[in-house]
Amino acid sequence: MTTVLIILVRLGGLIALGLGAAFFGKYLPVEGVPLLAHKIAGGIAALSLVLLAIQGFSRATVVAILAAIVAAATPAIGIYQQGIVDIEMAKLVHIAHIITGVGVLAFAEILAKRIKASRGYALAH
Ligand code: HEM
Repeated sequence: MTTVLIILVRLGGLIALGLGAAFFGKYLPVEGVPLLAHKIAGGIAALSLVLLAIQGFSRATVVAILAAIVAAATPAIGIYQQGIVDIEMAKLVHIAHIITGVGVLAFAEILAKRIKASRGYALAH
């Protein structure tokens, strides 16, 4: 299960990051199918991270709580940033979305490693 979840985070997260980079570089419009694909891929990554956080809660509680916060914040900030008019504020919120988005990938790697390591420990003892 951990392996499936980490693969889903990597796939969804990298697709979301790639589409996000294309939005940033103005290669794709921030609307329609590209935006929907970004939200679905990013949503799958965030949801899989929540499941990893639940799985790892007893072995890595602090990391799991931080991961769940980052997973919830990413779509929330992503949707919020669309309606901002003030340019300076919009820049800050865009940066926050990119940081939490990359955080989704980072926390998933840490959690998956901790979950697998604790299993190895349990088997050896
Ligand atoms: C791993 C998950 C994600 C990553 C790495 C990610 C990354 C990015 C990046 C790099 C951009 C371009 C930033 C820019 O134009 O300044 C972007 C834009 C956007 N993202 Fe995400 N994202 C993720 C998940 C999500 C999710 C789950 C949602 C919503 C359900 C979402 C909604 C948006 C929206 C609406 C925009 C366009 C905002 C705009 O330019 O007005 N993202 N994302």
